[in-house]
Formats: sequence, C-alpha cells, structure tokens
Amino acid sequence: MSDQMQQQLAATPPMGWNSWNQVRCEGLTERVVLEAATALVDRGLAAAGYRYVVVDDCWQGGRDESGRLVSDPVRFPSGIPDLAARVHELGLRFGIYAVPGAQTCANYYDDYPDLDLGSYGRERLDAETFAGWGVDYLKYDWCRAEQTTPYTRPEAFALMHDELARLRRPIVYAISEYGEGEPWRWAPPIANLWRTTADIAPEWPSIVSIIEQQAALAEFARPGAWNDPDMLQFGNGALTLAQNRSHFAMWCMLAAPLFLGTNVASLAEELIEVLTNADLVAIDQDPLGRQARRVATGDAGQVWVRELAGGDFAVALFNQTAESTHISASFDLLGVPVHATVVARDVWAGSLQQLHEASVSVEVAAFDTRVFRLSLGG
Ligand code: GLA
Repeated sequence: MSDQMQQQLAATPPMGWNSWNQVRCEGLTERVVLEAATALVDRGLAAAGYRYVVVDDCWQGGRDESGRLVSDPVRFPSGIPDLAARVHELGLRFGIYAVPGAQTCANYYDDYPDLDLGSYGRERLDAETFAGWGVDYLKYDWCRAEQTTPYTRPEAFALMHDELARLRRPIVYAISEYGEGEPWRWAPPIANLWRTTADIAPEWPSIVSIIEQQAALAEFARPGAWNDPDMLQFGNGALTLAQNRSHFAMWCMLAAPLFLGTNVASLAEELIEVLTNADLVAIDQDPLGRQARRVATGDAGQVWVRELAGGDFAVALFNQTAESTHISASFDLLGVPVHATVVARDVWAGSLQQLHEASVSVEVAAFDTRVFRLSLGG
C-alpha cells in the first residue's frame, strides 16, 4: 500500500471504542469486546461514526512453535480471527495492540505474564499475522522499548510502518510513545496518529492538562496524520456533565481520534447525546483537517479557533474553572473576516443567530465549553 493510500485510510480522525479504559488488563475478554461492538450499533454510536473496535493490551497468549502470536485461550476462547469476523459482521472494523520491544506495558505495570509478546525482530511475521486475522487498525505502543531494542523511536515505528505498507490489507497505524520523543516532528509520514501525552485519567485536572499540552501542536495535524490526546473518559470516574461536554468539545476542536473506553451499553443517555452531537462530530471530522489553535488564554477562560472546509470557522470558549465566566473573542482575534452577515450556530442549543457585533461573546458555565460554528453568508 502506498503512503498516499495509508494517509487516505485515516483522512479524518478514527472513532470507536478501545478496551483499555473500560477493563484495563484484568477484565479483558472476547465477550467484553463483542458487547462493546453490539452496544456501539444498538446505541446509535456506530451510525454517528464510532466504527473501530480496538482490543488493547492483555489479549495475548504467547507464541506458537513457528513464532506466531496466539491469543489467550481463556480470555478469547473463539480466537481473534473469529472475533474480528463477528465485529465485521456488525459493520464495524477491528483493531489490535502490539509493541515494538520485547515486552508490553502490561508486562511492566499489570503483572501480565512474560510470554514473549513483543514484535521486536518479528515485525514482518506479526504484521502478516494481523492482516491474516482481518485486523484493520494497529495500536503500536512503545512501552520502554529503549530497554529491549537497539532502535530509536522513529526507527522502531518506521520499521512496523514498512511492514504494514507491504501488506495488501489496509491497516490504520496508531503509534504511542506518550509524546516523549516529540512524535509530531517525525511521525506524520509514517503513522496515522500518534499519542501526544502520558495516559489520560478520568479526572478534570488530567483533561485540562492534556488540553494545555495540545496548544503548541496545531500545525502538525493534517488529513491522514493526527495528534492523539488519548482516549475519551466518558462514563469513567466522576466527571460532571459540563466536564464531559468540555472534554468532548475540545477533542473535536483538536481533530482528535475519538475512542470510548467504557461500558457503552450502560452509558447514560445524556452522555450518548453529547457523543453523537452531529455538529461537534462534523467539526472533529471536518475534511480540511485543521486542528484548532488557541488564540487566548487566562484566568477568565480560553478561546480556540479552527478553520473548516468551505470557509466556516469553529470557535470554542472553554472555561476550565469552577466559576461561571464571560468570554469574548473579536473576529480580529479569531481571524474571521468582518463580513456583512455572520451566522453563529450554537452546537449545544442547535440554534442559529446572526452576529451584529464583530465578536462572539457569551457566558460560559463552570467547567463548560460553548462552541459556535460561524458561517459567512452572502
Ligand atoms: C500504555 C498505553 C495505554 C495502554 C496500556 C496497555 O499505558 O499508553 O493506552 O495501551 O499501555 O498496557
């Protein structure tokens, strides 16, 4: 597959579900994965674009006599090819997890048995195995590979890119090294997405800190190559509705991959409504592929702006504080041309309003984010 085809594969940021934040290592089984896939369809998330079902770390059972990876027979009694086929039958795509070194992160942090799970020295065999199983998406996670391989990060990740490129099966390539090696500088030609930070936690300070770390990265994202601020924590921890709205609104402004990691079947209806907000999903998936830039920040809140295909702009007014605040942004600040008719669509209210002043100026509740899509009429 050519690099151009590889980029086309993730022309907009991938969306779906990943097992990690729901069940971590201990609770991963094929049943959990199938239930998630079924729930994505049943709850309208698949129709909204959440199509990738990704099995994270702790699916592996070791290697067979020919060195081929096998799945854990207790956790995955039907095997990965069968699971992938069942996910495909639901109209969804299937993803899996591997590492460039000798050990996975769960070998280090979750006492997962050391069964020779890493892809170091077996990149080709593992890539071919995944393609043979019907894998559509690979999460390739660094996990201290500097201790077990001679490669630098760009080298190790490029090696698997080259193996995926040889295959006939298109596989989205998601890499993860927590932003430590500034992957936005070298990953765009080899990967479809790259993690930019340490693991997200289902807590407000983690979300605010990750948003902060994206402010300098806007210029590096483009169609086929996305900054990945890590997965959505909807349904986990004790985030309030306003905090979830901000989490989602900002991930959409950032052109972030959108992966749920919770029990989708039991997710509160008000959170499903946030996740399927058509205006926000359209901003995340905008074909121009420009990540939002931060144009103002301070105690009173933050202003982010994103150019959209067709000349529209998305503006987010983000209040990270526990107090309601008034946030204003002039067209000058936003880079919006002063124009006779500018219509603002409030994505939460679904309402339209013509702007008579050359600014967006609104009250933003504690921890909340208001987002407007500006269209220049006439
Ligand atoms: C790392 C990654 C997580 C997850 C775990 C699996 O921590 O950042 O997203 O994949 O490894 O062990």
